[in-house]
Amino acid sequence: MKTVRTIADLRAVVRGWRAAGETVGLVTTMGALHEGHLTLIDAAAAGNGKVISTIFVNPSQFGPSEDLSRYPRREAEDAEMLAARGADLLFAPPVDEVYPDGFATTVSVAGVTEALEGKFRPGHFEGVATVVAKLLLQSLPDRAYFGEKDWQQLQTITRMARDLDIPVEIAGVPTVREDDGLAMSSRNAYLSADERRIAGTLNVVLREVAASVAEGGDPEAAAEQGAAKLREAGFDPVQYVAVRDAEDLGPPRPGTGGDGRAMRVLAAAKVGKTRLIDNFPVEMKV
Ligand code: PAF
Repeated sequence: MKTVRTIADLRAVVRGWRAAGETVGLVTTMGALHEGHLTLIDAAAAGNGKVISTIFVNPSQFGPSEDLSRYPRREAEDAEMLAARGADLLFAPPVDEVYPDGFATTVSVAGVTEALEGKFRPGHFEGVATVVAKLLLQSLPDRAYFGEKDWQQLQTITRMARDLDIPVEIAGVPTVREDDGLAMSSRNAYLSADERRIAGTLNVVLREVAASVAEGGDPEAAAEQGAAKLREAGFDPVQYVAVRDAEDLGPPRPGTGGDGRAMRVLAAAKVGKTRLIDNFPVEMKV
């Protein structure tokens, strides 16, 4: 697997592949790779002739009090994992290649970004949408793969690519979980043994909320109960537990007779200093 650090080099490799008739899949990451990322590489390899992975810890998506400086950076180890999994090219640009002097453009996606993460992480989705738009336009893949763990991010990127006519298929890939169901995340590395035990209850509680709504329970009441259970388990604070429309993240619109829209249960909560997010579909019984 080759590593390139400039947009010009990235484009030269992709140009060669295109000339040879290859299809291209893209997996964008901030590094500190785990099985969740590698599953995205598998999906990209299964659907395309060539696979690009990016590693770029994007400063513009971190708030002033967030973990940009302590975000784990281990490119050499990550590169080995990517190569072993069959990635063909690593694009790992320095910050000034992505944001050169005078950079002045921001991609802002209305609606879907406003609630949930958008409330607790102001500016976060502008940072994500801007960097993902750039990475898509720099590499112009056929398909780009994003984890369902960051559900609101996946919906934001899907909306952005559609609205900006970026000719790339955005594909969601199911969350990869530890044995106790905890969603894999680079931030799990921050958890102490006690925090790790508490973290394992997040998925259990969210599954219960989803099941209760699927059985006809009131979404708001189910979400409130879920939040109370998380507080009891040791999360502090529980920033939100919410049942939302799965696509636009607005209020749920279940409907009847098959015209209802899919719903999703989403949550963010802190254990110690570590902020965890997770989500599950509400699987309605037909
Ligand atoms: O999900 C992530 O790791 C990041 O938000 C992404 C999509 C790589 C953009 O920096």
